[in-house]
Amino acid sequence: MALTLGGYDRIIRHRGNGIEAVEIVWHPGTRTPKHNHASRGWAWVLQGRVFEVRNGKKLYHAAGDAFLEVDREEAHTVGNDTNDLAVTFHVYQPELQMDMFSDSELDIVAMDLSDISEPNHFAPFSATQLSPHQARND
Ligand SMILES: [Fe+2]
Repeated sequence: MALTLGGYDRIIRHRGNGIEAVEIVWHPGTRTPKHNHASRGWAWVLQGRVFEVRNGKKLYHAAGDAFLEVDREEAHTVGNDTNDLAVTFHVYQPELQMDMFSDSELDIVAMDLSDISEPNHFAPFSATQLSPHQARND
């Protein structure tokens, strides 16, 4: 899928007291520029699936997955290469700070990969594990 730079919606849910919480609605084929964060950040995929290119490697994060954002020492690109909406929720401390970079050749090659036969996403927990109702019904 051809990816468009930008075109996703950022909805700021909270900003202040050293914390920023942002919901991002990723339309099909949208992506961020390559960037880093001077803030610590954590992201949770609420719906659909996003990709992340980090260190020349493409990772996938699907609904229920969470991942740590890069810090100042690394840079990444996040986007939606599916035909469906994806929604993520991000928390940054302190409030979001980022620098933008140009894509490298390695990034472009990684972004073009579409083979997910070996998913490489990091899933520290699933949504069902978080549901107390689910636990009581077992
Ligand atoms: Fe990021």
